[in-house]
Amino acid sequence: MTQAELNELLNDMSRSEKVEQLVQLHGGFFGNIDVYTGPVVDFHMTADQPYRTGSVLGEHGAAHLKDLQNRMMEKQPHRIPALFMADVIHGYKTGFPVPIAIGSSFNPALAEQIASAAAKEAAASGVHVTFSPMVDLVRDSRWGRCMESTGEDPWLNARMAESMVSGFQGGDYGEKGKVAACAKHFAAYGAVQSGRDYNVTEISEHTLFEDYLVSYRAAVKAGVSMVMTAFNTIDRQPCTTNRRLLREILRKDMGFEGVVISDYAAVSESVTHGSSASLRDAAKKAMEAGCDIDMMSECYLHHLESLIEDGELSESLLDEAVMRVLVLKNRLGLFENPYKDASEEDERSLHFCPEHRELSRRAAEETTVLLKNDGALPLDEKQKIVVVGALADDKEITGSWALFVDESRTVTLREAVQELYPNADTEFFASDEIAGEMLAAAGKADVVVLALGENQNQSGESFSKADISLSKAHAALFEAVYGVNQNIVTVLFGGRPLAVPELAEKTNALVEAWLPGSCGSYALADILFGRVNPSGRLSMSMPYCTGQLPLSYGAFSTGRPKPDMQGFCPFVSNYMDAPNVPLYPFGYGLSYGEVAYSPVRLDSSVLTRDGKLTASVRVKNCGSLPVKEAVQLYIRDITGSVVRPLRELKGLQKIELAAGEETEVCFEITEEMLRFYDRDMNFVSEAGAFTLWIGHDSLTDNGADFRLE
Ligand code: GLC
Repeated sequence: MTQAELNELLNDMSRSEKVEQLVQLHGGFFGNIDVYTGPVVDFHMTADQPYRTGSVLGEHGAAHLKDLQNRMMEKQPHRIPALFMADVIHGYKTGFPVPIAIGSSFNPALAEQIASAAAKEAAASGVHVTFSPMVDLVRDSRWGRCMESTGEDPWLNARMAESMVSGFQGGDYGEKGKVAACAKHFAAYGAVQSGRDYNVTEISEHTLFEDYLVSYRAAVKAGVSMVMTAFNTIDRQPCTTNRRLLREILRKDMGFEGVVISDYAAVSESVTHGSSASLRDAAKKAMEAGCDIDMMSECYLHHLESLIEDGELSESLLDEAVMRVLVLKNRLGLFENPYKDASEEDERSLHFCPEHRELSRRAAEETTVLLKNDGALPLDEKQKIVVVGALADDKEITGSWALFVDESRTVTLREAVQELYPNADTEFFASDEIAGEMLAAAGKADVVVLALGENQNQSGESFSKADISLSKAHAALFEAVYGVNQNIVTVLFGGRPLAVPELAEKTNALVEAWLPGSCGSYALADILFGRVNPSGRLSMSMPYCTGQLPLSYGAFSTGRPKPDMQGFCPFVSNYMDAPNVPLYPFGYGLSYGEVAYSPVRLDSSVLTRDGKLTASVRVKNCGSLPVKEAVQLYIRDITGSVVRPLRELKGLQKIELAAGEETEVCFEITEEMLRFYDRDMNFVSEAGAFTLWIGHDSLTDNGADFRLE
């Protein structure tokens, strides 16, 4: 349709029809629900009313959605097609590694490939909009939703966000195999106090803009079609009814013109937060704030019309919101083809297809992080290898948002090892029980592989933990095995960094596998046996203990930084019972064999405002295996009108080097990269001294100084 035709349609719609376009219900209202993502409620609707709503949450399947679309359009006074939206976060039928793992690939291009494959599979099943990418910055792994984020760094999250938007939407999401993307959860949901889900946030304006908004800004710049409001408060106002956040920051400052949707029941929850007096008051506040669609609450449904009739709300706000929804439907081509890509034939050919299974495996090769290796890895097929732990046999390693993945087809670590390494002398005890037979076998083994950590039911929405230590059962299992064999390779599964200092001290090798997806165990097996050289880098720091949280490499000096020393130091900023630094920091990860960096070379030590400065290093693969190396550029602004982080990731190049190969890696530094929010919240750079580093992780001291004139 043309814009003129959309305008004509809007003008012809009744007020109740317009309101119903702004309501989203889950499948239970249509007699079918296999996906619960929030509380189930009754909105006292007539039997036909759900069919007149504008969009549906969580339904999927080509045949089912073609039928549902027909049933809805029949009830629509203007036969306006419905939008079908679902949480395709990191895969639809093929499960890819969870986003915190995707962040650990340090490879935005990989994130784009994953989103593109997920879009193809979901579009074939009739999905129009995905509630992804989740772009929340996370620095507190007590929050179970760190699993859904690409990590603790604003710059990396921004690169991942724009890549995933591009992967889902392409140049035009009306094209076949593309879906509209939704950046969530706006804003700063990852900053919930104490890491407890749905809690308030208490962060400064500087922290909001400098750290938490960067990835949303990148998603908007990349053309994301939708933004979802977060459950938390910002400045003591629920995001969903926060007019400054939505109209001033998102729309005016960031220039977002798409649809704003609330999170599940979040409009009504402003009453529970205590900032709306009633569901009617909540509807008024949310519409005035600029929330277009009310997901799974009855506020808009039962109160918008009367607010307008009573003169408490301008109908122009309703019309604006409805037009944004109609424009989204139009860009998806739904007025011409209400089923878009729904095709049972394409479902059969695309779902879990060899190409996507291969991508799932290749992705896990880049997301798996080798954290320690004192020589136990890689394994040799001739060794006597005993594998211990229930997680070695657990198919629930695709992530708690892998709602549509066929878990029966998820490959376990045991299956992968037995399939790929049939000649290896392996024995499996896929249990967490400390049993005599297992200990006897472990005691005689050349090496023991321990599968520990969390499966997908320990992280994700609402799965907050007050203590992120290894579980007592797994700590006891480790100690029992360590008591009979000190040559242990520990594989950690899970959707969050765990605090494992004792284990890290004792295990010979430590691998962070995250939740690797449908075929990720193949990659894990290949890494353990040395066929693949690990290249993952932590997207989120691993703390020594929960007490260090929130934690990030991008910390500040403070007025009393701790000197470089072990143990407690009085009258400076440190703990009596823990170090300040993480066990393993952001950007950290090992490979088999060393990757050497030459000292940084600058083509000038002075950067002018309109000029650029080139920093370069030579990087050499000193190992015997091909390696993928995430070359990282960090910059520190030594002095600012406000305090500045000790270092910030400002560049990344993921390169591949054959054994013995050396190459030069160059980064161009510009004034724009040095901008930050000054004391008056102006986004500016300030002349002065800077240091940059280029290296393997956020600990690198391979640096050089320069000045901005
Ligand atoms: C959930 C989540 C959100 C998801 C939505 C729809 O509560 O917070 O991420 O997209 O509901 O399922």
